[in-house]
Amino acid sequence: MFLGYILGLWLLNLVVIVTGDANPEVCSACVIVVGLVQQAELQGQLADALKSHCPGGTVAQRACYAGVDRLMMGVEEKAVPEEICLSAGLCSNPQCQLFKNWPVKDLPEPLPDWPTTRRMLEQHQKTIYINRHGEKKWSLGCLNEQGQARSEYIASSVYNGENYLAPDAIFACQYDDPIDCERCKETVTPLSAKTGLPIVFDYGYRKVLGGNKGAAKAMKEKLKTADTVVVAWEHNNINPLTEALGVDSGLLDSWPESDYDSIYTLKFDAKSLELLSFTKSSEGFSEKKKSNAHSSMKSVTKALFIDVLNTLTDNAYDASSVSTTEDFGLPKIALPYLAVANLKALSSSSLEDSECDRFNVTCRLDAFANYHEPLADRDGDVFSAEGKDVLRGTHWRGIDCNDKDASIHPGVSGVEEEVSGQDINCNGIFGGNETGTFESIFCDASDPRGVIILGDSATAHFHVPPAWLTAKSLDFSNIVLKVLDELDYPQCSWGTGHADPEDCPYQHPVPGIDGVFSIYEGMRQRNRCNTNDYQNIGVNGARITASMNLAKSLQRDTVRDKPALVWLSLMGNDVCNGHEGFDHMTTPETYYEKAMETLRELDTKLPSGSFVVTPGMFDGVLLYDTMHAQQHPLGTTYEALYDFMNCLGESPCWGWLNSDISVRRKTQDIANSLNEVSRQLESEDFQNFKFLFYEVPWKEMFAEYAKSGEPLTNLIEKVDGFHPSQAGNALFAQNFFGWLEREHEESLGGTNPFNDEIDSIFF
Ligand SMILES: *[C@@H]1O[C@H](CO)[C@@H](O)[C@H](O)[C@H]1NC(C)=O
Ligand SMILES: *[C@@H]1O[C@H](CO)[C@@H](O)[C@H](O)[C@H]1NC(C)=O
Repeated sequence: MFLGYILGLWLLNLVVIVTGDANPEVCSACVIVVGLVQQAELQGQLADALKSHCPGGTVAQRACYAGVDRLMMGVEEKAVPEEICLSAGLCSNPQCQLFKNWPVKDLPEPLPDWPTTRRMLEQHQKTIYINRHGEKKWSLGCLNEQGQARSEYIASSVYNGENYLAPDAIFACQYDDPIDCERCKETVTPLSAKTGLPIVFDYGYRKVLGGNKGAAKAMKEKLKTADTVVVAWEHNNINPLTEALGVDSGLLDSWPESDYDSIYTLKFDAKSLELLSFTKSSEGFSEKKKSNAHSSMKSVTKALFIDVLNTLTDNAYDASSVSTTEDFGLPKIALPYLAVANLKALSSSSLEDSECDRFNVTCRLDAFANYHEPLADRDGDVFSAEGKDVLRGTHWRGIDCNDKDASIHPGVSGVEEEVSGQDINCNGIFGGNETGTFESIFCDASDPRGVIILGDSATAHFHVPPAWLTAKSLDFSNIVLKVLDELDYPQCSWGTGHADPEDCPYQHPVPGIDGVFSIYEGMRQRNRCNTNDYQNIGVNGARITASMNLAKSLQRDTVRDKPALVWLSLMGNDVCNGHEGFDHMTTPETYYEKAMETLRELDTKLPSGSFVVTPGMFDGVLLYDTMHAQQHPLGTTYEALYDFMNCLGESPCWGWLNSDISVRRKTQDIANSLNEVSRQLESEDFQNFKFLFYEVPWKEMFAEYAKSGEPLTNLIEKVDGFHPSQAGNALFAQNFFGWLEREHEESLGGTNPFNDEIDSIFF
């Protein structure tokens, strides 16, 4: 299954290697990546992106902004890198090695180790650490033996620049009363001796000394010249001091009498001194059992999610039934985006005309997560308005030109326009003259139709930017938008690509193609009346056994809508997954059963005159032969990368991406047997569509491309070494569309003689 590949595991597993050790340790590399994601600049970017999804209107907007700010704090607070790495299972198998044939050649520069990286990250931030004094002899007394040992430990093992940053300034609370021993000062005296820094001892919680507020002010003032301030304070006054430094009281639990070990970490922006984050951790002097990282991460994330939803919606419903992001196949860190984006969908939707109660989070998220329906969809017609491109919006399906009316959306036949004169099907052609509506004058005789692609990650155009992995240019820009589209680029894909090439991954030259070409583009070039009539229901990891959900997500009305050219394209996952062995591959019997189930479902949804095409599965032997000896951006060979992924149990395709040729051949035999089933489906009868099997001539297609003098590796994704690249997508589209033109032109509908006239009036 591919679901786990969405961002998290892919990045984390692959980046392991760039630590540069001959025997890389998985966890430290994971920590680096998570650390990068936590850096201040990126967080600012995340926060901005989230806020752009907030609803308008002052009250809702303010609540939403507050929720985002709080979420960002939560991400920082809870996302202790080690915990994330543990919970993602990334420290489980450190004996898997990528660089078996180390060194290869031209190795990318390795990333610095984690302490160096962390120091780099923290250059943008200033820090205040708040501790309690050590254990005391009696309630008002001086440090006892344990307290003194603690104070030594703080100097040697806590603020030593490794576990925590070394201080540039030290503050201690002055009790300034005749009876209390000055145990805060005692606690940081060894640290002061070790660092040579004086203890600032002019402040305390008592009013005469300025109180907690005065102390907070002095500490922030100090941050102008110091990067890191260590504070020892009286425990009942730690929370008030922390609040005075800007932390929301809602984030603070009361400090128990028995607790001498906790540390509050407050991070501030180096320039503005604005509070960025608040975290709680421990000195580690009192031996405490480490909590189970996995379960605590889970409950914390879920609690956070529910908390935010409730905050933002005034407890309008019970959010406790919401499932975690794991159910969406997204990394946990994506959860806040979902929460806010979902809120946006909630707040802008009306309840009418919808099967789903839009104020019921479970239901909305369900439709989004399981049926890949857009989150932003006011009228519930499964199309999003212009500008709502991500989260299964217009990158995936044509623009809804009226998102307040469920009867108006792409694909509707033109009949109703003859009555209303409005653009009912959002193809941009509307109005008319005495002769009739332009829709009827220009489109009726042209046999228009839509393009709908049901499929997998190759359909959705999965792509990880190489810059996210290349040690020399690690660059996470645009990560938010990419996550919101599940790391897919349907707007650039072979089936429904329609975007500006500048907004797509880099494309190597493909003879005969300039820019983005897709089946949809081909259809639109034939007939402008097809404009905007596309649906990409590509889901990372989809295989025939899950194809029913794809069919359910398809939006078409047998009566009201135009016919469609549908591709049911599952190019690999039925034989591809991370499991060793052949047991997890789909058998021909299951394939037949599930394919028929899905096709029967399609028969209930597609208007008569439609076509359904299934292309043969990809040729895994060809894929391996093309890639295995090449060098991956990380500096090793693809062969070594594939074996490494297999060792981790995280390979996208154990069977094809395997250095054992007998495994590759047997996997290809199984793929061929499934193709044989698809071929047999051609003899089945369906009421509303004709089924076509396309035995894609992969080898010939690649050989033809090779004649242009370009390397075949251009056709495959650089990072994963598995999916078609942007050039691969273009080549597939050219080949698939060419085959339809030659062999099944009837499936494409007509070529419109009015195209030029339509262009001159409408486009
Ligand atoms: C929300 O929707 C889910 C799924 O449709 C349903 O099971 C649940 O009862 C609904 N909850 C409320 C409060 O209506
Ligand atoms: C209406 O527009 C069409 C298309 O431009 C044109 O062919 C036709 O002559 C027009 N009819 C009238 C009455 O102007």
